[in-house]
Amino acid sequence: MATPERQLPPDAPPAPARAGLPPGPRTWPLLQMLRYARRPYDALAENARQFGNCSTARPPGQPPIVMFSDPEAIRVIFTADADEMHGGEGQAPILAPILGRKSVLVLDGARHRRERRLLMPPFHGERMYLYGRMMRDIADEVIERWPLGRPFPIHHEMQAITLDVILRAVFGLDEGAQLARVRDTILRALKLFEGAAAGFLAIPALQIELGGLTPWGRFVRHRRDLDGVLRAEIARRRAEGTAGRTDVLSMLVEARDEDGEPMSEEELLDEMFTVLGAGHETTATALSWAFYHALRRPDVLERLQAERVQVAGDGPVDPEQLAKLEYLDAVIKEAARLTPVATQVMRRLKVPMRIGGWDLPAGVNVSAAIYVAHHRADLWPEPERFDPDRFVGTRPSPYTFFPFGGGERRCLGMAFATYEMKVVLGHVLSRTCLRVAPGYRMRPMLRAITVAPSAGMPVVLDRRAG
Ligand code: HEM
Repeated sequence: MATPERQLPPDAPPAPARAGLPPGPRTWPLLQMLRYARRPYDALAENARQFGNCSTARPPGQPPIVMFSDPEAIRVIFTADADEMHGGEGQAPILAPILGRKSVLVLDGARHRRERRLLMPPFHGERMYLYGRMMRDIADEVIERWPLGRPFPIHHEMQAITLDVILRAVFGLDEGAQLARVRDTILRALKLFEGAAAGFLAIPALQIELGGLTPWGRFVRHRRDLDGVLRAEIARRRAEGTAGRTDVLSMLVEARDEDGEPMSEEELLDEMFTVLGAGHETTATALSWAFYHALRRPDVLERLQAERVQVAGDGPVDPEQLAKLEYLDAVIKEAARLTPVATQVMRRLKVPMRIGGWDLPAGVNVSAAIYVAHHRADLWPEPERFDPDRFVGTRPSPYTFFPFGGGERRCLGMAFATYEMKVVLGHVLSRTCLRVAPGYRMRPMLRAITVAPSAGMPVVLDRRAG
């Protein structure tokens, strides 16, 4: 039987449309940004308390952003014609120099559609099972390194797992010296985005190489190293063929568009970098949140354990059995509702459009406010409570629950990331006895563009099963 979809509250009676932009905070834009940077969730909640379902933010040097949390407005944003609402344009100035001009994240229109069609198949369907055992083995390797009885940041460990999953399942690198070298290069490049220099990397005017002396120069050097490795991997696949290979890169080398054209080397490089940029930190952060919520709730841990035993007995869960773990799925969804990694997704209006009762002009940005919509008490009773049962036996509406965005730009890695999170969270909890480190006081904090639990979410390992 199909899972019933959650009912939305009845529509409010239509109000006459208003012109102009909805009201928003009047404080100095830079101050608003700093407030968001310091306390991202609190700033958004405060904004929603003050201005309700839609408000306008005015970031310095950018068009205003009109933020919506009403399901009907979200529906309009996610079902609009992609040529009338661009998702790539707004991010291109910052992301194109980093990910590449051919990255799906910065494209719009026909080129975006072509790129998505080529990229989708390797990240979907039964192919996931091929990666399931690899993901579990990688988690096992990482678990073995954890100290007993001493706090350690689980976020860091999740980063190690999600990075190796990309290197092996997506890039197709085999265990060995080359994998270690690429891992090291990527970690050094990613570190640049974590430190104080991160802001400099995102400002086009400061993207100056100076022979590797500037943060940008160091980033470019790392990116070139990585491009070199990937070029060699692409050449190897083109020369030797891809028979017997299961990695995403091999599938993309073989992929053809509707005109029978393969992806160019530049496209392949930019998309590999995009997958790394979009899929590594996000999945690690979502996992850290899931651990944070689950480990504080013995009742949740007990139900996860009972479900696992019912499905797989005493042995490990097979990748094919994961679909039966409904409660595990609900725990992951509830963590993504309560503490979404991305707080909003944005589109640039190319034509005037009526959204949420406002007649908006072309040129403004509109956003589907993930965090605010996920915390509306009319959609989610007792919204601050962690309650996975909200998702058991029911399918949420894509306009009230959208941690991966929506419409034609919805996260390309959604199925892959969800599958990986189930494998890793389920497996780690089955093999270990973990608890949140004593005295830990969590604060949601901004890390680049994601929101993560502070201090890497420290945990203590009390026991590890063989
Ligand atoms: C829990 C982990 C993840 C979260 C929370 C997440 C979230 C998101 C969000 C919110 C968007 C924007 C969607 C929109 O504009 O409507 C997005 C886009 C994207 N994500 Fe993810 N993501 C995750 C993991 C991944 C993974 C593992 C991959 C790759 C395998 C990936 C690849 C992408 C790509 C390529 C896009 C751009 C899609 C487009 O513009 O057409 N993501 N993601």
